[in-house]
Amino acid sequence: MEKWVAVTGIVLTVSFGWALRDNFDQEWAKYERTYYSLALVRPHTAVWAKSQAVEVKQVLPTQVSTVERCVTCHIAIDDPAFKDGREPLRQHSALLRSHPPEKFGCVICHGGVGRAVTTMEAHGQGEGLSDPLVKGEYIEAACYNCHGSEALPIQATSAVIRGRQLVNRSLCMGCHQIEGAGGQEGPDLTAVGSQRSWLWLYAHIARPESVVVGSTMPVFPFSRDQLKDIVIYLLTLRGGLEQSRPTIAPINSVESNSTGLSGVAAEAGREMTGPGLVTYDGREVFNGAGCTMCHSIGRRGGQVGPALTYIGRKRDAKNLAKLLRDPAEALPGGKMPQLNLTKQQIDALTTYLTTLR
Ligand code: HEC
Ligand code: HEC
Ligand code: HEC
Ligand code: HEC
Ligand code: HEC
Repeated sequence: MEKWVAVTGIVLTVSFGWALRDNFDQEWAKYERTYYSLALVRPHTAVWAKSQAVEVKQVLPTQVSTVERCVTCHIAIDDPAFKDGREPLRQHSALLRSHPPEKFGCVICHGGVGRAVTTMEAHGQGEGLSDPLVKGEYIEAACYNCHGSEALPIQATSAVIRGRQLVNRSLCMGCHQIEGAGGQEGPDLTAVGSQRSWLWLYAHIARPESVVVGSTMPVFPFSRDQLKDIVIYLLTLRGGLEQSRPTIAPINSVESNSTGLSGVAAEAGREMTGPGLVTYDGREVFNGAGCTMCHSIGRRGGQVGPALTYIGRKRDAKNLAKLLRDPAEALPGGKMPQLNLTKQQIDALTTYLTTLR
């Protein structure tokens, strides 16, 4: 627990006028209260918990110029008692020991909206979808941006390397410039990773004319995995921004499992133990988790994938849940991406999709 106390030293609490008066109904207040009440019954944290107020918490990470409130709900990230907790009350992997929140925050690796204090908004799943959470292997782009390829174990940035090779081999640079080299027919991609979300890039490269009306960019016959690797590489193109970061010494002593990124996707949708805290509305998740980027229902939505207006006639709940958990298995040879949805999100989505008939 000492560690958490140390962190709270740098975590500032903010009191909005409204937050002081009646934060009782706020979603984040529910998570904090649950956390403190669990801490109250543990002998070595009882005294500490009693002194804590239910307030919005924020960090101002020194390595990035943002305000981040993720720790308001993710309040157990450094508490070993929550090793097997259910999100958001779950301890983070050991990665936070070398990347403490007070220095790095969360957004640099995970994306999302740092200032927001509702789950949908903080995770970039509100209407508009500007900063969707970066999950699974897509996080590699962030590791690569700070560490480069030489410093990390090979498996920690292998998708970036594969993606770059694909871009070179597919002659993308015949039409696009990257850092001064290449053609002029398409836009310069030097900073595309700081301008577009992973979801937008994925959908665009899968079917350019469905995302940008009248696009003349050709459709390439990429597989799902190739699309993913290309997107991860494109996310590392940040217009030379990474050069302004401090140089980091090569990392030699790493157990491979502390950077086990490739294991993450396989765990998607896993069930977590502990109190159930989050409830989703399936229609909101459909709009917020990016489905509308590629699928239409009725007249609204994208054309990258098939329309889902009557999907409830074609697939039952079990089949849909399986498909959303692992598109590669359910739709072999297809392009639908692994979205790394949580079990709660999958449950809400299937409930909604089965009503479409
Ligand atoms: C209002 C509370 C709240 C805030 C603020 C919040 N989260 Fe979460 N977070 C949750 C909840 C609840 C879950 C569990 C979701 C589920 O199981 O579907 C979660 C799960 C996650 C997960 C893992 C599950 C997933 O959807 O991939 C990540 C990663 C995550 N949050 C990152 C962040 C980041 C980064 C921020 C800040 C930008 C943030 N969260 C802010 C409540 C919050
Ligand atoms: C240095 C990059 C980095 C930072 C900073 C970071 N995370 Fe993570 N996070 C990861 C990675 C990578 C994983 C996947 C598990 C692993 O390999 O460690 C992960 C896993 C998670 C998960 C579990 C869901 C999953 O996909 O397994 C949650 C929730 C989460 N992080 C929230 C946060 C929050 C909240 C913060 C800020 C306090 C934060 N993270 C800061 C890289 C980071
Ligand atoms: C914002 C830049 C940044 C990002 C993003 C980032 N790192 Fe780091 N990382 C650092 C810095 C700086 C250190 C050195 C910390 C220190 O020595 O105090 C570090 C340290 C480490 C260490 C620990 C080395 C040791 O000797 O303990 C590992 C492992 C590591 N990073 C892996 C990763 C992985 C994997 C990711 C992506 C999930 C990642 N990093 C993302 C900046 C970053
Ligand atoms: C024949 C020329 C051509 C080739 C080859 C080509 N593109 Fe494009 N690309 C375009 C044009 C034209 C646009 C602008 C219209 C659009 O956004 O679809 C574009 C747009 C893009 C964008 C959107 C940029 C933005 O931010 O709006 C990305 C990303 C992109 N291309 C990536 C690629 C990748 C990756 C490859 C190789 C696999 C590739 N392109 C190959 C012509 C091309
Ligand atoms: C980047 C584009 C993209 C995104 C985002 C996406 N899908 Fe898909 N989806 C596809 C494509 C393409 C297919 C067609 C099969 C294939 O290629 O894998 C598909 C197929 C499906 C199918 C099967 C359709 C049928 O007629 O059998 C369902 C159901 C589905 N997607 C649901 C979703 C849901 C729900 C979401 C959001 C959580 C989502 N998809 C997000 C591209 C996408």
